[in-house]
Amino acid sequence: MQVIEKHVGSVLVVRFDNSPVNALTVGGGLVQAIERRVAQAQTDERVDAIILTGGGTVFSAGADIADFEGAPERIDAIRSLMQSIENCRKPVVAAIEGLCLGGGLELALAAHFRVASSTAKFGFPEISLGLLPGGGGTQRSPRLAGAGNAIDLMLSGKSVSAAKALEIGLIDRIAEGDVVEAALAMLAAGLVGSTRRSGSLPVPQDLDAAIDSAERRTGLTDAGRAIIACVRAIAQTDLQAGLKLEAEQFGALMTSEQSRALRHAFFGRRIVGKIPGGVRVESKGVRHVTVVGGGLMGTGIAISLLNADLGVTVVEAKPEGFDKCRASIEASLRRDADKARITAATADRRIGALNMGRSIDEAMPSDLYIEAVFEDMDAKREVFQALDRIAPLGAILASNTSTLDLDAIAQFTSRPEAVVGLHFFSPANIMRLLEVVRGARTSPETLASAMAFAKSIGKTGVVAGVCDGFIGNRIFEEYLRQAWFLLEEGALPHQIDAALEAFGMAMGPCRVMDLAGQDIGWNIRKRRAVEQPDRPYSKIPDLVCELGRFGQKTGTGFYLYPDGRTPQRDPLIEALIVSHSRQIDFDRRVIDDSEIVERCIFAMINEGAKLVGEGIAYRPVDVDIIYLDGYGFPASRGGPMFHADQVGLPHLLEKMAQYARGHHGWAWEPAPLILELSDKNQKFGDLNR
Ligand code: 3HC
Repeated sequence: MQVIEKHVGSVLVVRFDNSPVNALTVGGGLVQAIERRVAQAQTDERVDAIILTGGGTVFSAGADIADFEGAPERIDAIRSLMQSIENCRKPVVAAIEGLCLGGGLELALAAHFRVASSTAKFGFPEISLGLLPGGGGTQRSPRLAGAGNAIDLMLSGKSVSAAKALEIGLIDRIAEGDVVEAALAMLAAGLVGSTRRSGSLPVPQDLDAAIDSAERRTGLTDAGRAIIACVRAIAQTDLQAGLKLEAEQFGALMTSEQSRALRHAFFGRRIVGKIPGGVRVESKGVRHVTVVGGGLMGTGIAISLLNADLGVTVVEAKPEGFDKCRASIEASLRRDADKARITAATADRRIGALNMGRSIDEAMPSDLYIEAVFEDMDAKREVFQALDRIAPLGAILASNTSTLDLDAIAQFTSRPEAVVGLHFFSPANIMRLLEVVRGARTSPETLASAMAFAKSIGKTGVVAGVCDGFIGNRIFEEYLRQAWFLLEEGALPHQIDAALEAFGMAMGPCRVMDLAGQDIGWNIRKRRAVEQPDRPYSKIPDLVCELGRFGQKTGTGFYLYPDGRTPQRDPLIEALIVSHSRQIDFDRRVIDDSEIVERCIFAMINEGAKLVGEGIAYRPVDVDIIYLDGYGFPASRGGPMFHADQVGLPHLLEKMAQYARGHHGWAWEPAPLILELSDKNQKFGDLNR
C-alpha cells in the first residue's frame, strides 16, 4: 500500500496503490495518506492543481470492507478525506481507469472534475453488503446525476459504463488514451480552472418524484430505506447535515445483523476458493470441454460452458436425446439474444462453438471431460473406462454424480489423480453453486484446476470431501427429515412451507420437493431403508409418491397445481397426513412456527457441524456458501453456520437437548464440534480464519 506523488509542471499527480483493487483503507492508513497529500498541496506554492488516480488498472473498488469490522467510526476518516478534496482551493481532478466503485466513486464525486477511460465502470455496490454509500455518495450523486439516476444506482448496486456515466452527469469527460495525460491536458487548456463541478441541488419536483417512485419499490431492505431517507434530506437540509445523517445511518447499518451477514457472504465467497494448507499449485487452463450425456443436466452444463465462451462437445448416444439437447442449447442462446442479454453475433459464435457427438470416440481432444449420465455405477464405469482410453494425458476427468462414490468411479481409470467431482445444481446454467468433490486420490493440481475452472465459468466452487450426499445434500436430508416428522406430529405442508419462507428460505421444503420431483427423495429413502434399517423415517412423502404424485411434473404432489406452477392446498393430502398420524398412534398436536423453523434449521446446522468436524467441509463458511448459493438460504442470515453463531451455541445445544426428548429424539445427537466449541466459548466463525 502506498501513495506516490509526482510533480508535472505545477500539477501534483497523486497515485494511490493498494493492490489488487485499491481499497481505501483507513486501518491501513491509505485514506489519511491521501488526505495529507491534498492538505500539503493546498499550501505548496509549486502546486496549482491536483490529479488523483489509482495505481494498476483500477481506480478503486471502494472502502476496505474489512476495515469497519468493530470500528464503524472509521467512516469519519473517509468523510474527512472527501471533505478535504471538495473544499480544496486548488482544482482536484479524478483521473479514472477501470473500476470506480463505492467509496472510490465517492472520492471521484468529491473532486471538482472527473475524466475517465471509456472502459471504466461506475457503481455503488454498498447495498449488496447491506450498507449505503457512506462517503458522501447519497448527497453528492443526486446533485451530479439527478435524484432518479442516483437512486437507481444506489438501490440496484449495478455498475454503469463510462458512456452512461457521462450521459447522466456522473463524470465530465471520457478520455482516449491515458487518463492522467488527458487530465493534464485539460488542466493545461484551462478546462477545469477553479470552477467547482461537484453538482447542484436537484429540482424539488424531480427529487420528490424520484423518492416517491423509490418508496413504491418492493423488497426494500434496511439499507434501501436508509438510502432513500438520506436522499430525502437533500431537500430538507444542507450538505453538511445531509452528510451527518448519512454517516449516522452508515454506522447503524454497519452493526446490523443483515449487513454483517452479507459481508460474511462476500468474504466467504472468496475464502471458499482457498484450499487450506495446500501447496500453491498452478492450475491448468480449460478451453475445450466434452460433456458426456445430453440429458437435462448435461444440457444445462453445456449452456453454462458456452456462455463462458468455452468450446464444447456434447456426447449423446440416443437419437431423440441428441436432437433435444442441441435444440435446447440453441433455444437458450437465442432467447438470451432476443432478450438483449447478448448480441445475435455472440449467440451465433457460441452456437458455432458447440459440437455434438454420438459416441465418446467422436469427442474432440479436451482439457476437461464432464460425465453427466444417469446415476448408475455400471453406466459410470462404461463412461470412465472410455474416457481413460481417449482423453489426452493431463486432462481432467470429472463426474457430475450427486450420490455415488467418487473414489469408486476414479478406480475405473488408470489415473485416479485426474478424477474430480463437479456437482452442478439444476438448472446448471442458472445455479451459481458448484460442489467440487475431492476424491481420496485427486491430485492438488486437479483440485486447483477444477476450482479455477469453476471461477472461470462464473460459479462459486466449494470443495467437498467424498461422502453420501457431499455437503449440500447430506445436510438437506436432515432438514427434510425434520420437516417430514413435523407432518406426522401435527403440522401440514402449507404451514411448514410458510414458516420456513417467513424465516427467509426461498421456498419451503414441501414446495421444493414438488419442484425437484418427489420421486428423487423416494429413491433415496428406499436406499436408506436398506442401508440404515435402524433409522425410522416418516412415511408421509412415500404415501404421496405411491399415489403417483411426483410434484409439479405430474401436476400434483403435496399440493395441487391448477395452473402448473402455483401450489394450492389439497384436502386429500391433508386427510392422508392426519390419517397416517392416527395409524401410527400419534396424537397430533398444535405445532408453532418457531418450532418448525428451529427443528429444520437446527438439524441443518448440526449436520453442517458434523461435516466440518469430519473434514468433509473445510470450514463452516463453506457450508454457508453452499446453502446461500445452492439451496436458497436467506442472504440476510449469512448461511446456517453464521446463523448458529447469532443464535449462540449454548442455546442451540439446549434446544437440541429439548428436541432429543421428543418424537424421534435419536436424530438430535449433537455434533462433537458444537460441544467442543461451546465448551471453549468459541464460535463457528473462529474456524473460518
Ligand atoms: N474491500 C476489501 N477487500 C476487497 C474489496 C473491498 N472493497 N473489494 C475486493 N476486495 C478483495 C477481495 O476480498 C479479494 O481478496 P483476496 O484476494 O484476499 O481473496 C481481492 O480483493 C480480489 O477481489 P475478487 O476476488 O472479488 O476479484 P474480482 O476481480 O473477481 O472482483 C471486484 C473485483 C468487482 C472489485 C469485487 O471484489 C467486488 O465487488 N468488491 C466489492 C466492491 C464493493 O462492495 N465496494 C464497496 C465497498 S463499501 C464502501 O465503499 C463504503 C463506502 O461507501 C464508505
